[in-house]
Amino acid sequence: MAVENLASNSMANISWLHGLLWWRNWGKREWAISAIGFAVFVFALAFVSYSWISDPDSNLSSSFHRITATDLVDLTLLHNATRRGAVCLDGSLPGYHYQKGFGSGANSWVLYIEGGGWCNTIESCFWRREIHLGSSKHMGHRVHFTGILSPHQAQNPEFFNWNRVKVQYCDGASLAGHPDKELRNGTRLFFRGQLIWEALMDKFFSLGLSKAKQALLAGCSAGGLAALIHCDEFRGLLPKNGLRKSLHKDCIARKEPAECLFPKEIIKNIATPVFLLHSAYDFWQIQNILIPEGSDLYHYWQKCRLDIHNCNATQVEILKGNWV
Ligand SMILES: *[C@@H]1O[C@H](CO)[C@@H](O)[C@H](O)[C@H]1NC(C)=O
Ligand SMILES: *[C@@H]1O[C@H](CO)[C@@H](O)[C@H](O)[C@H]1NC(C)=O
Ligand SMILES: *[C@@H]1O[C@H](CO)[C@@H](O)[C@H](O)[C@H]1NC(C)=O
Repeated sequence: MAVENLASNSMANISWLHGLLWWRNWGKREWAISAIGFAVFVFALAFVSYSWISDPDSNLSSSFHRITATDLVDLTLLHNATRRGAVCLDGSLPGYHYQKGFGSGANSWVLYIEGGGWCNTIESCFWRREIHLGSSKHMGHRVHFTGILSPHQAQNPEFFNWNRVKVQYCDGASLAGHPDKELRNGTRLFFRGQLIWEALMDKFFSLGLSKAKQALLAGCSAGGLAALIHCDEFRGLLPKNGLRKSLHKDCIARKEPAECLFPKEIIKNIATPVFLLHSAYDFWQIQNILIPEGSDLYHYWQKCRLDIHNCNATQVEILKGNWV
């Protein structure tokens, strides 16, 4: 995983170095972006060297020997995507790698979005059309599923039998590109990240994400940013628990679902005239809210809490809130 991250981050940093030549034109934002990219790159380097140093048996060749056939997962192109304009920077089809979940993981999903920096100038986006970060023509046909994507229980005890997806990142803008920023002079350079995201979600829905009991959206670097950008949208797509489905959508949009279960909120969204009758204190409230058993250590209120007729005058005044 670390080796893979290093590779994609190196790619990001070629574009970062390329961008450096344009430093005179850079605003604060670009500097901040490259600083993050650089920090992630340094972290990946540090992680790789740490793992080599700390594990004396580990070296590049032995870690590659450990790869088995089940770890290598084919690239699938989203053939339907061109119809909705969901394409990579160069106009090619976007793609992903998928392994089906099984056993107790059959209805659980982990989706990992590949990283690889951003392109922030027309030049750097042009350059990206020639590599896997901008075109499926240059994507590897198979990737190695390791870390949280690994199918081996010993390496990946939490997720090994979940449905596991690696999303190939090819829009140059953390799956958030929009066509309104495309050039209008006939140049083939597509900013379709949002459309790619939507096409991918439709595909995973047809593969069973629509029935998911739990799902984890993850990503590294620019892919981590994509996970943050899309996480609320992602959660919104997933099946809700039954009760939530019955609550009013306007309320759910504004409040915690638990609040939408109470009449104070429910009544705001009822169109039919409603007449409510409610005593100041009902039986349940007296026993559980006003005088919970645990707060009456000496049982002074025992009789009163079980039957309002047994409350003496002082207690009735206390219940009414008139006690000072
Ligand atoms: C492509 O989309 C059509 C309709 O939107 C759908 O019926 C078909 O199953 C899709 N094909 C694939 C391979 O996803
Ligand atoms: C379109 O505009 C871009 C950016 O201004 C420029 O680099 C490119 O050469 C133009 N292409 C054509 C065909 O005019
Ligand atoms: C009412 O009951 C409480 C608790 O048993 C007692 O402390 C209080 O003195 C009683 N008051 C009257 C007016 O009887």
